[in-house]
Amino acid sequence: MSPSLAAAAPDAIAHPFDESDFGHTELAPTHRIDLRPSNTPDVFFDAEPVSNWTALSWEKLGRPYRVERWSKEKKTWEREHGQEMPVKECWTHFNRSFQKYFDQGPAIARRESLGKLGRAAARFSAHDVREALEETVQWSVWNHIHRTEDAVWDPRGKRALFDGLDVKRPNILFLGAADGYEAMQMMAMYPGGHAVLVDYDEYCRDHRFGAFPGSYPFIGANPATGGPKVWYRDEMNIDFEVCDIRDLKYGAEFDVVVSIGLVEHFPDQFKPLAFEMHRKFLRPGGRVIITTPRLQLKSKLFYTLFADSMNFAYRELMDITHLGLYAWENGFEIMRHGRIKAHNGLICRAR
Ligand SMILES: C[S@@+](CC[C@H](N)C(=O)[O-])C[C@H]1O[C@@H](n2cnc3c(N)ncnc32)[C@H](O)[C@@H]1O
Repeated sequence: MSPSLAAAAPDAIAHPFDESDFGHTELAPTHRIDLRPSNTPDVFFDAEPVSNWTALSWEKLGRPYRVERWSKEKKTWEREHGQEMPVKECWTHFNRSFQKYFDQGPAIARRESLGKLGRAAARFSAHDVREALEETVQWSVWNHIHRTEDAVWDPRGKRALFDGLDVKRPNILFLGAADGYEAMQMMAMYPGGHAVLVDYDEYCRDHRFGAFPGSYPFIGANPATGGPKVWYRDEMNIDFEVCDIRDLKYGAEFDVVVSIGLVEHFPDQFKPLAFEMHRKFLRPGGRVIITTPRLQLKSKLFYTLFADSMNFAYRELMDITHLGLYAWENGFEIMRHGRIKAHNGLICRAR
């Protein structure tokens, strides 16, 4: 077995795991390392698959849930500027405040919040006590979601979702890529291809993707042996383009077009545009993969507790049926649909 990441000097070992570590999982300070296989029950599933999308309607389903508890920072910005925060501005705030949870170890951050809490209590400052308490709870919840459950990156769920795509050395386009995690997972599974990550916030290129841990192991395939292999980001052919997805100049040339948590940010009048962005750059017969956060109590609680860090832009929580119906209405054939830990997942192709 290779030395564990926890035991290694931080920058001494770039590729700490290999195939002999399959089945291994451990907690690094900011995230989980998970080299367990995907064939366990908590991955891609749907208890009641839809067989006929034409039989569904919005009257039967009801509309998705809208998250409308806005960030304090957004409300302050809007008061100061006398206008609604423009969408791109929303994303620059979101990306910086979300990334802080990936950068800091929750255990240390929680200890610091508890220290603040003690000092605020000693000063009898009710306001500071409330803030420090909220911060402490946030770090505990984040620790559970991202490190213990690994529900954000969810490598096993994502591998199960991306499995069986029938592509070789694919050309992948990732719309609204942020940290680019899912493109890296896909490139490990379908090696030898090329991915273009697109996000109009340059902070994503420089920090969200830029600072993604190079020692993070992705389970994928070994084309030489046909067996599994551990891949790292520096072994992948990835370009990051800082651009509005509406301004992209590509033709219909990608084998896979993917977005993770993007279409739920387009209000209904812009949904056709959102889906068109997925179709436009797809080669004939190519696959579109779309995920959105699930409509469930856990997600509602998450976006309430983390409102100040997360809620800048319009956001819907959907069931897989909502997401599927949007895709169907906008000209896609649904090939697979289901749920992973925190998201709905859809594999489709243009009709
Ligand atoms: C909700 S995030 C995606 C979730 C992601 N998995 C994460 O970890 O944050 C959506 C991303 O899409 C980007 N984005 C939104 N609209 C865009 C547009 N029109 N063109 C390019 N990027 C866009 C935002 O900057 C943001 O990084």
